[in-house]
Amino acid sequence: MRGLKDKVGIVAGGGRGIGAATATRLAEEGARVVIGDIRGDWAEETAEKIRQNGGIAIGTALDICNEDSVQALVDTAVENYGRLDFFHANAAGGTQGDIEAINVPLEVFDRSIELNLKSYLICTQKALPELLKQGGAMIYTSSGAAYGGAAFQVAYPIAKNGVHALMRHVAARYGKQGVRANVVAPGLVLTEAVKEHLTQEYVDAGLERAVCPRLGKPDDIAAMVAFLASDDSEWISGQVFSVNGGMAMRD
Ligand SMILES: NC(=O)c1ccc[n+]([C@@H]2O[C@H](COP(=O)([O-])OP(=O)(O)OC[C@H]3O[C@@H](n4cnc5c(N)ncnc54)[C@H](O)[C@@H]3O)[C@@H](O)[C@H]2O)c1
Repeated sequence: MRGLKDKVGIVAGGGRGIGAATATRLAEEGARVVIGDIRGDWAEETAEKIRQNGGIAIGTALDICNEDSVQALVDTAVENYGRLDFFHANAAGGTQGDIEAINVPLEVFDRSIELNLKSYLICTQKALPELLKQGGAMIYTSSGAAYGGAAFQVAYPIAKNGVHALMRHVAARYGKQGVRANVVAPGLVLTEAVKEHLTQEYVDAGLERAVCPRLGKPDDIAAMVAFLASDDSEWISGQVFSVNGGMAMRD
């Protein structure tokens, strides 16, 4: 892809799964990558694998809900590599106990909003001052759950829809100053987290809905994030990209 060589990017929530695959792909394209994760050991393991393959990466502990921690992540990129060109907000969680609206405990709702939405605003607040210096890209991970109409959970889809609105705000407010913002909305991707928590029945139902003959791999999402960070997407902003094997078809 054009323009990723020597760019500097952050993957927040890159210790494993989609984030780790994305950090790896970005490094393969020549970008210098800082990986943050609540599991600092996972972030460092991912960075070490990248370095062993000749890439440039740093792994560090991050709590994406904590302003000082996100600021430290941005500072790590700038202090080590001199600039920040893109920021991928990808961490998620807090879905345990997230059930239908009538019964969901409000503390479960609050935690989901904090981890899946407010944290992405914190990332935006800390990344923008650096991105505005020379232009850059915010890329947020959402989910097909944002528009899928899930009957079994209420907070996570609300949080992810909020991410879409945040992305559009950033695209509209900072676009003339050279900052692009986009969302990637994965369908069912067979990450470690999915394999741990989802039933075989749910996986089979996902496969049934996909028009492609397989479910998603982390690399499928990584490719779209790399594209949105690259100069090949320099006229693309304010969009939600579903990468889902055709599980949902949208304009
Ligand atoms: N896998 C799927 O099928 C799927 C589908 C739709 C959307 N998504 C989205 O893709 C993204 C990645 O999902 P994944 O499947 O790779 O899951 P994952 O749980 O493996 O990845 C999330 C990462 O975020 C980290 N994290 C959690 N809390 C954190 C915190 N407070 N601070 C920093 N890091 C934290 C985790 O340790 C983990 O490494 C998420 O935003 C998720 O909502 C995934």
